[in-house]
Amino acid sequence: MTYHNPVLLEKSIELLAIKPDGIYVDATFGGGGHSKSILEKLNSEGRLFGFDQDPDAEKNKLDDERFILIPHNFEHLRRFLKLHNVKKIDGILADLGVSSHQFDVMDRGFSIRGDGPLDMRMNPRTGHSAAEWLSAIDEYSLTHALATYGEVSRPKKLAQVILNAQESSPILTTRELLNVIEPHGRRGEKVFAKVFQAIRICVNRELEVLEKLLEEGRELLLTGGRFVMISYHSLEDRRVKVYFREGQLIGEAPRDEFGNRLTPFKLITRKAIIPEENEILKNPRSRSAKLRAAEKTEITK
Ligand SMILES: C[S@@+](CC[C@H](N)C(=O)[O-])C[C@H]1O[C@@H](n2cnc3c(N)ncnc32)[C@H](O)[C@@H]1O
Repeated sequence: MTYHNPVLLEKSIELLAIKPDGIYVDATFGGGGHSKSILEKLNSEGRLFGFDQDPDAEKNKLDDERFILIPHNFEHLRRFLKLHNVKKIDGILADLGVSSHQFDVMDRGFSIRGDGPLDMRMNPRTGHSAAEWLSAIDEYSLTHALATYGEVSRPKKLAQVILNAQESSPILTTRELLNVIEPHGRRGEKVFAKVFQAIRICVNRELEVLEKLLEEGRELLLTGGRFVMISYHSLEDRRVKVYFREGQLIGEAPRDEFGNRLTPFKLITRKAIIPEENEILKNPRSRSAKLRAAEKTEITK
């Protein structure tokens, strides 16, 4: 089975505007599809660091002396680059979310098709599985997670249903969770996918680590360096969009006397780029992808 088909490959590599002798980061190495294309554009001086927190991704490691795989969470971007004596980079690409491999292997617990342990950790060697997370959560926090990260309708009711079931018998598998939520969905609502998304985001702290990546990426980029991000749900995309526009996660950027934003980025994509019809037909998992790019400029606050 294919590990992962890279999404928006040509466009994302083009937007990275690769300098052949530059230093690049692929923050989400996965099956290495984007990394291979970056390496094709680098000369013998260029270097590429691939991050992936999933131990399964290590088997895709590229046999190329310009490439180093860092099997860790990209929230520690700066720290691990420093260990390799890298203080500045020419570009960074992140293709967020879950790989096809993670969805396809039922033992990982990401899929709403089939059955497996309720895990959902991208790095199963650390943190708490989804089952452990569910066993420790209270009604208020579960309601908040379902509403905010899953945009589920009637989140409080669903949280109560899940916690009542959990109390009578711990929910340990994906099938058990699906059976509990099955009667709850409104007609036409993709309730399974929404609940799984909400839990996955919490278990992997996806928004928190994305924010760290944005902040550290900004610090590490050289002037003229490019930040290229592919996101798969509106919560991610909104953060990327605001950060590229304002140069900060909260609030608006200061303005000069002409009203221009003083931000450390020039927008390369004014609107998000989405896959074309034929890519979606070939790879349906690409359908929710949104690609944005920004360039680091001289202005820093
Ligand atoms: C959509 S896939 C990337 C696929 C890759 N672009 C390719 O061409 O094969 C996302 C990958 O990023 C990894 N990942 C997601 N969040 C991460 C994080 N915070 N730190 C490190 N790796 C992460 C996942 O484990 C997964 O392998």
